[in-house]
Amino acid sequence: MVNIRLNNGNEIPQVGFGLWKVEHTADVVYNAIKAGYRLLDGAFDYGNEKEAGAGVKRAIDEGVVKREDLIIVSKLWNTFHEKGRVEPITREQLKWWGVDYFDIFYIHFPVALEYVDPNVSYPSGWTTLDGKVRQSKATIQETWEAMEHLVDIGLAKSIGVSNFQGSLLIDLLRYARIRPAVLQVEIHPYLVQEELVQFAQAEGIAVTAYASFGPQSFVPLKWDKAVDCPRLFDHPVVTAIASKYNKTSAQVLLRWSTQRGLAIIPKAQNPLRALENLDSTSFDLDPEDVKAISGLNRNLRFNNPPDYLGTLYIFA
Ligand SMILES: NC(=O)c1ccc[n+]([C@@H]2O[C@H](COP(=O)([O-])OP(=O)(O)OC[C@H]3O[C@@H](n4cnc5c(N)ncnc54)[C@H](OP(=O)(O)O)[C@@H]3O)[C@@H](O)[C@H]2O)c1
Repeated sequence: MVNIRLNNGNEIPQVGFGLWKVEHTADVVYNAIKAGYRLLDGAFDYGNEKEAGAGVKRAIDEGVVKREDLIIVSKLWNTFHEKGRVEPITREQLKWWGVDYFDIFYIHFPVALEYVDPNVSYPSGWTTLDGKVRQSKATIQETWEAMEHLVDIGLAKSIGVSNFQGSLLIDLLRYARIRPAVLQVEIHPYLVQEELVQFAQAEGIAVTAYASFGPQSFVPLKWDKAVDCPRLFDHPVVTAIASKYNKTSAQVLLRWSTQRGLAIIPKAQNPLRALENLDSTSFDLDPEDVKAISGLNRNLRFNNPPDYLGTLYIFA
């Protein structure tokens, strides 16, 4: 497995396993580790960190891996952006996972929302208990300084940002004492994000792509944009390239990302798909095939908060 070296010297595997909407998480995580995955991409918002931790514990107890073999990733939810809330919730999330540090801890979204007590609502999502989206006053700088403190006290080895765009990164880099090691954003052939990737990489920030299969992950949520959009798996450009290399469409979509130097974190409930995805770096696409897939770009973003909240235009 190829590793990506981060700007702080830490390394992460280029192919990891995504945990959003995973069911029976303990078994899925345990099986993913047994299959060879070493990076697990979790978040407070996925609501399954305790179960993920149970899967990790079983793999460690059975001697499949040691803690230091794993890259455990989690994210700070929007309701914990105030500086006084970052460390306590991180400690709580670490407890759920049963570990004493995260390898990467991200700011999940560049938007601060009013606090919701996780003992009352977990995961609380985007709204307060009365169903309203309410912003809080914490700035990204305040939150980032609290994230840096997590590194100082050993709760996170690397810190990163997710769903940030160029202007926010430029601003963050002005004051960051610890530069973000990783940027995690939506990237697939319908949303290529060439400039953002180039900018981040030029700044020494590794990029992780989420939703590598485009609409696929959002169809079960019945989001219109995803339902109305042709599946990437069946797109003639993708299927022709898959036949050329005797690979699946999924493997071609993942290789298109990894050949751009991106880390990937495909989610697969189905263990055969999980294996297929892990085995997606053992061939190389010709440059003209990478270009043909990039040519499918439509600047089509599926994970766009106004589409499901009617507010928070973070990508406008
Ligand atoms: N930072 C953020 O805001 C953010 C947002 C979204 C996601 N993420 C992270 O990124 C991870 C990946 O994104 P995602 O889960 O949204 O979507 P994804 O990995 O693009 O797609 C997952 C979907 O593709 C299917 N699939 C997986 N492998 C396949 C294969 N080889 N062939 C056919 N179908 C396949 C899965 O099916 P089955 O599961 O049924 O097998 C599932 O329906 C998430 O799990 C999460 O960790 C982060």
